[in-house]
Amino acid sequence: MSPAGIFLILLVKSCHAQCRHWLTPEFHFASNRILQGHVFQTKTVSSAVGCGRDCSMDQQCASFNYNASSHLCELNNKTRLQSPCTFVEKQGVFYFEGKKTSAGADGSRAFSIVGQPAQQSSNYTNWFAGKAVDGSSSTTKNYCSHTLDEQAPWWRVDLGEDHCISKVRILNRAGSTSRRLTGAVVRAGDNTTVTNNPTCGSPVTAAQAKPSGGTIEFDCCPELRARYISVDIPSKSILQLCEVTVEEIPIDHCPGKSSGE
Ligand SMILES: *[C@@H]1O[C@H](CO)[C@@H](O)[C@H](O)[C@H]1NC(C)=O
Ligand SMILES: *[C@@H]1O[C@H](CO)[C@@H](O)[C@H](O)[C@H]1NC(C)=O
Ligand SMILES: *[C@@H]1O[C@H](CO)[C@@H](O)[C@H](O)[C@H]1NC(C)=O
Ligand SMILES: *[C@@H]1O[C@H](CO)[C@@H](O)[C@H](O)[C@H]1NC(C)=O
Repeated sequence: MSPAGIFLILLVKSCHAQCRHWLTPEFHFASNRILQGHVFQTKTVSSAVGCGRDCSMDQQCASFNYNASSHLCELNNKTRLQSPCTFVEKQGVFYFEGKKTSAGADGSRAFSIVGQPAQQSSNYTNWFAGKAVDGSSSTTKNYCSHTLDEQAPWWRVDLGEDHCISKVRILNRAGSTSRRLTGAVVRAGDNTTVTNNPTCGSPVTAAQAKPSGGTIEFDCCPELRARYISVDIPSKSILQLCEVTVEEIPIDHCPGKSSGE
């Protein structure tokens, strides 16, 4: 049986009513994963169950990491969804969060940018910038943006105010021209000159651009405070986008900035 299975059986056997709120279908468990940088208490316990019990009884505890060889129990004051960039792979440790704090309104979530003002470096006929935020998941003509074939084409949407961006997704065009997206860079920030803003994830690879009508994901790590989301290709190319969608975390959880702005 997997460590996960053993852990759950132990938890059920030893917890009873005391930590019932952990034992719901809404819990989240991950092997070989750890949430880094949000530990507010560390202790050595005899088993994962003890770690879970300690967490469930502490108001501040949102999730925990448990190292099965050292029996080190780390209580976190955030969940993976509140800080997706710090949820990383680590062998021999597991991560657990219960219902009390799981997902929901507090985590990384999609928000609509449909209809937000968008611009691009040039227009190819009527494939305007706004078509990448028209709410349509169609990957054909009339539902995608498209620049001319030019040096360093770019596209940018204005969110109107700062959001803390955790993820961006691009829906690529259908057909063999999907390959044109190779090398595209996603950015998020407050500068209207898109190339002054930090990047999310890595430039699109040829393999990512190949699937017709494919979806490509970009993780912004750390999460970025941004009014503008953009895509640019730093060479002579055509930039075409069928839809751009984003996820955010609550702005008061945004890393690297003091609160109250
Ligand atoms: C959460 O824990 C970190 C230490 O990892 C600490 O710096 C931070 O102040 C804590 N946040 C809250 C809201 O308690
Ligand atoms: C878990 O504990 C073992 C034994 O102390 C240690 O060697 C290992 O590095 C720890 N793993 C992590 C990810 O901290
Ligand atoms: C593209 O067309 C739109 C809609 O007519 C226009 O507002 C925008 O200024 C044009 N962009 C460029 C770069 O010419
Ligand atoms: C945008 O970047 C330029 C060049 O670094 C800088 O001079 C300008 O102040 C920036 N604008 C904003 C709004 O940050």
